[in-house]
Amino acid sequence: MTVCEFRAGLEGVPVTQSSISFVDGQKGILEYRGIPIQELAEKSTFLETAYLLIWKELPTKEELEAFKNEIRYHRRLKYRIRDMMKCFPESGHPMDALQACAAALGLFYSRRALDDPTYIREAVVRLLAKIPTMVAAFQLMRKGNDPVQPRDDLNYAANFLYMLNEKEPDPLAAKIFEVCLVIHAEHTINASTFSAMVTASTLTDPYAVIASAVGTLAGPLHGGASEEVIEMLEEIGSVENVRPYLDDRLQRKARIMGFGHRVYKVKDPRAIILQELAEQLFEKFGHDKYYDIATELERAVEEKLGGKGIYPNVDFYSGLVYRKLGIPTDLFTPVFAISRVAGWLAHWKEQLNENRIFRPTQIYTGLHSVPYVSIDDR
Ligand code: ACO
Repeated sequence: MTVCEFRAGLEGVPVTQSSISFVDGQKGILEYRGIPIQELAEKSTFLETAYLLIWKELPTKEELEAFKNEIRYHRRLKYRIRDMMKCFPESGHPMDALQACAAALGLFYSRRALDDPTYIREAVVRLLAKIPTMVAAFQLMRKGNDPVQPRDDLNYAANFLYMLNEKEPDPLAAKIFEVCLVIHAEHTINASTFSAMVTASTLTDPYAVIASAVGTLAGPLHGGASEEVIEMLEEIGSVENVRPYLDDRLQRKARIMGFGHRVYKVKDPRAIILQELAEQLFEKFGHDKYYDIATELERAVEEKLGGKGIYPNVDFYSGLVYRKLGIPTDLFTPVFAISRVAGWLAHWKEQLNENRIFRPTQIYTGLHSVPYVSIDDR
């Protein structure tokens, strides 16, 4: 069968059949395994949500407890990974460090049969457990400090903030971070998930699958946008400057970071949740003037671009939340990866169930039968 129509960016082209998540971009609906994101944000935890995504159903109490214990057991990093990280330049981007570390994990665990459920579970647990430790360790090591050991008495979200900031987080901060992890965990076939699926379809090891996805998430048109949103808000500097800044960018046909989405043509439901979380944080820990700039920018963009269906996406308010939680700007995307690894693993597992290697076609636009010109005659 040949499909002749070329769709740039594969827009609207189904590449798989999936039961993991669902998005209605016109109505602003996001569901994981059929459960609305708002319900999970309010009632679930990250590890429970990860379990739901990967193993299709919410775990029982016993299943969740066993899963949490396994994660706790595997949180520590191997000394050799830490030694490898010591050689990384401190000026390097943490997403590059994370990609290298995720790939390096594969060196330690020999590849086994991909239909072995024990191997699948071990890989899931190791990746979910170790990625937050890697992100926090890189942050401390680039400051010249020793990494902080994970704490078994803290849950997944609180432990990450503890390892990062070297102090136990405020319970509200930990709770809000947990919600951030839940709402970033999965989002149908975005660029990084597709990247994970393509890599998975070759039947390579799961660490290579996750390393591919991390590399893809890093780009400024994808997860990297949250960093650029903060830089943009800082550049705008004041509420008064919002409209002149916007007019200037639109005149130059430049993108407004944190706005627009291939699927959502209304405000991203995750942006709505993140905005609420930002307000809760500001109420408890003090206001952030960049929030006023952000809300004014949202109003101005809606007036100018709302007609084209351009509204805040998930990356617009996440940076303001992360900053208040003490997360440095260049860790916003690694923090996104900590959460999204759950979705990538769910798609890895789904891909293996009905695998066929991805091998799309192209519409050739080059020449034919061109004679070779020897180097002296060129
Ligand atoms: N600012 C200004 N105009 C925009 C923006 C934006 N952020 N996004 C889209 N548009 C305009 C385009 O200029 C285009 O206008 P035109 O039809 O008049 O030429 C129209 O909207 C459609 O844009 P496309 O590029 O075709 O949309 P696409 O679906 O390919 O891109 C994307 C989606 C990459 C997210 C885009 O909206 C964008 O670049 N946004 C800014 C970066 C960003 O915030 N990325 C994070 C996305 S969420 C995530 O990945 C986790």
